[in-house]
Amino acid sequence: MTAELISGKELAARKRDEMKNQTEELKENGVTPGLAVILVGEDPASRSYVRGKQRACGETGIHSELYELPAETTEEELLNKVEELNDADHIDGILVQLPLPDHISEEAVIDNIRPDKDVDGFHPINVGKMMIGQQCFLPCTPAGIVEMVKSKEIEIEGRHVVVIGRSNIVGKPVGQLFLNENATVTYCHSRTRDMESIARQADILIVAVGKEEMVGKEYIKPGAVVIDVGVNRNNEGNLTGDVKFEEVKQVASYLTPVPGGVGPMTITMLLHNTIQSAFRRRQ
Ligand code: GUN
Repeated sequence: MTAELISGKELAARKRDEMKNQTEELKENGVTPGLAVILVGEDPASRSYVRGKQRACGETGIHSELYELPAETTEEELLNKVEELNDADHIDGILVQLPLPDHISEEAVIDNIRPDKDVDGFHPINVGKMMIGQQCFLPCTPAGIVEMVKSKEIEIEGRHVVVIGRSNIVGKPVGQLFLNENATVTYCHSRTRDMESIARQADILIVAVGKEEMVGKEYIKPGAVVIDVGVNRNNEGNLTGDVKFEEVKQVASYLTPVPGGVGPMTITMLLHNTIQSAFRRRQ
């Protein structure tokens, strides 16, 4: 078997076309959706992600503002900036790029973003609402993964989803979203025993670990759907996923590539959340 690829890039392009129409509609009513992005420090990967987010906003008709703060910024200064944006009427979404420098508490910063502008879906209010299936901002990478699976009309209900990784940004919430879709969900992590045999039970395997090519064909049930969330740089400087692409492609039914897989969908869901925020706040 050779897996069919799920191109996040193509799906993202289709969704962004739809979103352009939504921003047009908002603009006809005098509203331009606005996203504020705060970047603290000089991390090159974060800088590149933020640039991608801004470019996508521009292409979709969303106004974006970037606040680049030096690495020495204090927590209080950052909280003041968040407060100012909480009160800014033309801003519908606030995104503080993570990770933050060690002297700033990510928890304190996230707690202080207004939940109705928390387009990352990281605020405890939004996390709690997601848990109990209430309407809220869904975290972008997990929501993008669900969209990718649905785009291929892959059945989710009653199927076994195994998530490798338990981060607050991807692993934990993606399992919750699939549970909300009536899947049976198992989490694996660094302390899991015999991970391969658990992963081999998965109908849908989601790998979000951040370890270059950790998952080979021995983790895959023939015909499984495999979602690779990893973004790693190998020794040659190329982007690679957490999955051994070439060998897993021979066993899986569907597989997401890196790059061009989950990444473009993460940004797309951020645009989606920002537009939804603009609609809701102006109702
Ligand atoms: N760092 C890595 N991924 C993300 C994300 O989705 N949102 C934010 N704010 N920071 C990140």
